[in-house]
Amino acid sequence: MTAVPTLHLADGTSIPQLGFGTWQVPDADATPAVLEALEAGYRHIDTAQVYRNEAGVGRALARSGLRRDEVYVTTKLWNDSHSPDDARAAIEGSLEKLGLDHLDLYLIHWPATLKYGDAYIEAWDALQEFKAEGLTRSIGVSNFHSVHLDALRGEVPVVNQVEVHPTFAQRPLRAELDRRGIEVESWSPLGSGADLGHADIEAVAVSVGKSVAQVIIRWHLQHGLVVLPKSVTPQRIAENLDVLDFELDADDMARLDALDAGNRVGPDPETADF
Ligand SMILES: NC(=O)c1ccc[n+]([C@@H]2O[C@H](COP(=O)([O-])OP(=O)(O)OC[C@H]3O[C@@H](n4cnc5c(N)ncnc54)[C@H](OP(=O)(O)O)[C@@H]3O)[C@@H](O)[C@H]2O)c1
Repeated sequence: MTAVPTLHLADGTSIPQLGFGTWQVPDADATPAVLEALEAGYRHIDTAQVYRNEAGVGRALARSGLRRDEVYVTTKLWNDSHSPDDARAAIEGSLEKLGLDHLDLYLIHWPATLKYGDAYIEAWDALQEFKAEGLTRSIGVSNFHSVHLDALRGEVPVVNQVEVHPTFAQRPLRAELDRRGIEVESWSPLGSGADLGHADIEAVAVSVGKSVAQVIIRWHLQHGLVVLPKSVTPQRIAENLDVLDFELDADDMARLDALDAGNRVGPDPETADF
């Protein structure tokens, strides 16, 4: 199988461009799903404290028999833990549940300004300490807009994980992050399933002889995005990784680019009140 491409991050590390999402996968189901993914060849797992499945992910990592340096693991700090002491307890709890002594990437999950004000700024100070201590190799953010990035002190986040899929392409934010040297990770890359029924994408899929999900995942890869599809279905887990032996041509890419319609499927960081 062709290897998943990696992207170089500004801190000198690299990240596999295709990872396995685990949101809404209950802890007990996370173990078989992540094991299935690792056996299929995924080497990048995306979880979060709030998903309550880090222990299940950790069991899969242990059972896989893979060396620690063969799998890229991301988890995220939840909104109620932005104070430095709470953040430290949170990363220690995540590491314990995952059964790891360090993460590859630790993210602030949301700026969460409506509920917690500017606490995310202190959380970023804490993440820089965790990185210096070796608890995580890289640090980044999720669901941040320019105003939140501007408020941070010290290091620049190496990634921003945000909602991106063909009908919600986030072109202005992606251009801004590109300008800042921050890589984009696409969450809900299939629109949580909403983009899968799109007739134009189906037409491209038929013309290239691939599934709709595979065409969408290719669109993310060819735009230089890190893409994190989630599935608990073994056949789909394999299908979503089987995207390395074809390319969308410029016309196909343009056809998908034309679908951007502001179809947000998740919360807006500006109005999220959790
Ligand atoms: N940072 C954040 O705030 C944030 C927010 C949301 C998500 N995320 C991350 O992004 C990941 C992906 O987002 P997501 O879980 O919302 O959605 P997604 O990957 O866009 O879509 C997942 C949905 O599509 C279905 N699916 C997957 N592959 C398919 C295929 N080949 N054919 C047909 N259906 C397919 C899945 O069904 P089955 O599972 O039933 O197969 C599931 O219903 C999350 O798991 C999480 O890691 C992060």
